[in-house]
Amino acid sequence: MYRSHTCGELRIEHVGQNVTLSGWIQKSRALGGMTFIDLRDRYGITQLAFSEEDNKALLDDARKLGREYVIQIKGEVIERASKNDQLPTGEIEVKVTELNVLNAAQTPPFTIEDETDGGEELRMKYRYLDLRRNPLKNNMMLRHQMGIETRKYLDQQGFLEIETPFLIKSTPEGARDFIVPSRMHEGEFYALPQSPQTFKQLLMVSGYDRYFQIVRCFRDEDLRADRQPEFTQIDCEMSFVERDDILAVFEGMVKHLYKEVKGIDLPDFPRMQYDDAMRLYGSDKPDIRFGMQFNELNDLAKDQGFKVFDQAELVVGICAPGCASYSRKDIDKLTDWMKRPQIGAKGLVWVKYNEDGTIKSAVDKFYSQEVLQSWLDRFEAKPGDLVLVLSGETNATRKQLNELRLEMGNRLELRVKGEYAPLWVVDFPLLEWDEDSQRFHAMHHPFTAPVAEDIELMDTDPGKVKANAYDMVMNGVELGGGSIRIHDKELQQKMFKALGFSDEEAEAQFGFLMNAFEYGAPPHGGIAFGFDRLVSVSAGEESIRDFIAFPKNNAGRDVMIDSPSAVSNEQLDELHINLKSND
Ligand code: AMO
Repeated sequence: MYRSHTCGELRIEHVGQNVTLSGWIQKSRALGGMTFIDLRDRYGITQLAFSEEDNKALLDDARKLGREYVIQIKGEVIERASKNDQLPTGEIEVKVTELNVLNAAQTPPFTIEDETDGGEELRMKYRYLDLRRNPLKNNMMLRHQMGIETRKYLDQQGFLEIETPFLIKSTPEGARDFIVPSRMHEGEFYALPQSPQTFKQLLMVSGYDRYFQIVRCFRDEDLRADRQPEFTQIDCEMSFVERDDILAVFEGMVKHLYKEVKGIDLPDFPRMQYDDAMRLYGSDKPDIRFGMQFNELNDLAKDQGFKVFDQAELVVGICAPGCASYSRKDIDKLTDWMKRPQIGAKGLVWVKYNEDGTIKSAVDKFYSQEVLQSWLDRFEAKPGDLVLVLSGETNATRKQLNELRLEMGNRLELRVKGEYAPLWVVDFPLLEWDEDSQRFHAMHHPFTAPVAEDIELMDTDPGKVKANAYDMVMNGVELGGGSIRIHDKELQQKMFKALGFSDEEAEAQFGFLMNAFEYGAPPHGGIAFGFDRLVSVSAGEESIRDFIAFPKNNAGRDVMIDSPSAVSNEQLDELHINLKSND
C-alpha cells in the first residue's frame, strides 16, 4: 500500500492516527535538530517532521533528500506547534517513523511554485514539470469540470455524443488543412478535420436529432493567444429547430456551466446585430464589460477645410473618461502605438475637454470651439474627458478604433477580471468579398442558410444577403458560432455558385452532402464552441495555452517531443513522397 491518505486530506481530527503518505518533496527546511518537509501531491501539501531527538539516522536520511524526490513515509499525525492557516492541512503535521525513497529527482530546471522563475520556452520543454504547478493544475481541473458539466447538461437535453472521423478529405473552404499522405493510395491524401461540420449535418439526415461531441479540430493557420493548431470544440447540431431554439439551449448550457462550475448566475444574454457591433465597437466580438462606444462624426467634421477628414469615408471616435489630463507626450506615445504596423493608423486626432470647461484640440485651426463642442456633445463628454478620433476607409478605421478602445479599456482598468459580459451577435452577412481572390467567401461556412427574406438577393446582390448565423461572445472573445443550415440541394448549389464554384467543383467536393439532401434532410442547425476558450475566458485569461495540457508554442511546435520533425527516407518512400532538394 503506497498510501493511506492523500497529502491534502489530514485534519486535526486525524491526530493520533498512524498514516502512510506518498508524494513529491516541495521543499525542505532544516532548523537546529529538526527538518520539516512539505510533501505534495495533486490534492495538497502535508508537513512532515523529522527530529534528532526521535531518530537521528532518519533525520540524516531526510536531509539528503532533494526537491521533487518521490518518497513514501509512515508516521503519526500530531498537532502542530505553530499552525498555518493558509493550508487546509495546516493544523497538523506527520511525525515520520519510516522513510522510503521511491525515486530520486534531478533538480528541476525551474521552481515548482505558483510564481515560477522558469521562462516560457523552458516551461514548454519540461511541460510535465510545469503541469505540477498549482496554476496549471487548477486549469486542468477547471477544464475537466467544464467537460463533465457540458456532458451532463447536453445529455439531459437529449443530445447523443457521437464520434466522427479524423481522417477525412481536404476541402478548399475555411483555413488551411493539415494533410496526411496515404500509403495505400499513392498520391492521395487524407485531411484532418477543421471541424466535424459535414458529418454532423449527415447525422441529422440520419435522424439522430440532437448530436454533440467534445472533439479535437485541426487548422493550419497563423497562431495567436487564442488559437492553437489543434484545439477542442463542443460541437452540436439539432433538427427541426429555428435560430431561437438553438440560442435558448446553448445560452442555457453556458449559464449551467457558470452556475455549476463557478457558482455564478449569468444574466440573460443580450443580442446585438452584426451591423451594430461593427458600428458601435468596430468588432464582431465586442467586449461589453465597458461602454466607450464609437460615435461617428462625418456630419460634424467633414467639409470644414480639414483635408484628412474631408477625404475620409468615415470619421469616428471614442471618449476616454478622465483622460484630458494626458500630456502632449502621453498622446504622442498613444499615437505612435496606433501607428505601429500591427494597427496601421495614419494618425490620431484628440479633443481635450479640460476640467475648467475649455476645449483644446489638435485640430483647433480647422474647427471653431462651437464645432468642437458639438463633437463633445455627441459623446456626452464631461469636463476631464478626452475624445480620440480616427478617419479613413470605414472597415479599416473601425478595426483600428476597436484596438484603441480595448487599449483604453485596459489602461482605465475597465476590463475587469471576474466580470462576465456575454452576448449573442446575430445577423451576420452571408458572404464577404475577398480582394485577393476577387470572389466572395462564406463569412461562416458554405452550409449556412441565408435568412429567408434575402434568398432572392443571392442572384442579384449577394453581398447584401444576411446569414441565419450567430456567435456567442464573452468579454471580447468569440466563444462559439453556428447557424441554421441549408438543407435543400438547390439552395446549396446556389450558394456554391455564389462562392465561385463550378457545378463540377461543387459536386466533386461536396457531392456527398448534396446527395444526402435528396434523401430526406430535416431542417437543422447548430453551433460549435471553442472549448479551450470557454475554459480560459471563465478563468479570466486570454491565452488558451495554459488550459491545454500539451499545447504547441507560438511557432506551432511541440518543443517537448520536438515536433514537427523529419522522418526517414524509408517512411517517405512508403508514402510515395519525394522531397526534392533545393540544389
Ligand atoms: P468556427 O470556425 O467559428 O465554426 O469554430 C467554432 C469555435 O471554435 C473556436 N476556434 C478555435 N479555438 C482555438 N484555436 C483555434 N484555432 C480555433 N478556431 C476556432 C472558436 C470558434 O468560435 N463548424 C462550425 C460551427 C458550426 O457552424 O456549427 C465551426 O467550426 O471559439
